[in-house]
Amino acid sequence: MRYLTFALGKGRLADQTLELFEKVGITCEEMKDKNSRKLIFVNETLKLRFFLAKGPDVPTYVEYGAADIGVVGRDTILEEGRKVHEVLDLGYGKCKMCVCGYQDAAPLLNHHELIRVATKYPNITKDYFYNTKHQTVEIIKLNGSIELAPIVGLSEVIVDIVETGTTLKENGLEILEEVCPLSARMIVNPVSMRMENGRIKNLLSQLKGKL
Ligand code: PRP
Repeated sequence: MRYLTFALGKGRLADQTLELFEKVGITCEEMKDKNSRKLIFVNETLKLRFFLAKGPDVPTYVEYGAADIGVVGRDTILEEGRKVHEVLDLGYGKCKMCVCGYQDAAPLLNHHELIRVATKYPNITKDYFYNTKHQTVEIIKLNGSIELAPIVGLSEVIVDIVETGTTLKENGLEILEEVCPLSARMIVNPVSMRMENGRIKNLLSQLKGKL
């Protein structure tokens, strides 16, 4: 039997994924050691391998077949646009992609004005404004702390993830429009899906039973 390889997006999502996997008897003890610098972990009994990667790299590993299966947020899947099959909504990591800003930016959206939009997600932003809203905007790519942009006057609005809403609230910003709901998803390489159909289907049905 060949190894099935999993790429997990680093951080809280990976912890929740390992918890879920444990419920269906998939364990990987050595992966829990936070001090370890090891990059890949093996469960010899089940013929499984796991590695942690930066979220946006997970769909890349899966598209190229370096990982058969990946777990990552839907935001990343949409943004990266890789050729992978999304097979399961894992339900955790729930949040939403939103257009946010000061309340006084709302008319600029309503009137389809040519505004600046700062975001870590230029592809999602482009798709939303150009294909859904039919509004021409200038998109500015940032890498974090996106909420700063309207505060310091870099952009009129932002497109960003809202989870609890605390970051917005503490900075006097609001949700102006909702783009889409997000949560952790399982993705599969299309060739692996055919070649390892039995094993993957079996894993999916076990996981579904625990969600
Ligand atoms: C994310 C997101 C928001 C915040 C939303 O940022 O970009 O800033 O969390 O969460 P909340 O609604 O619960 O306040 P993250 O902390 O991942 O860091 P970043 O700013 O570097 O992207």
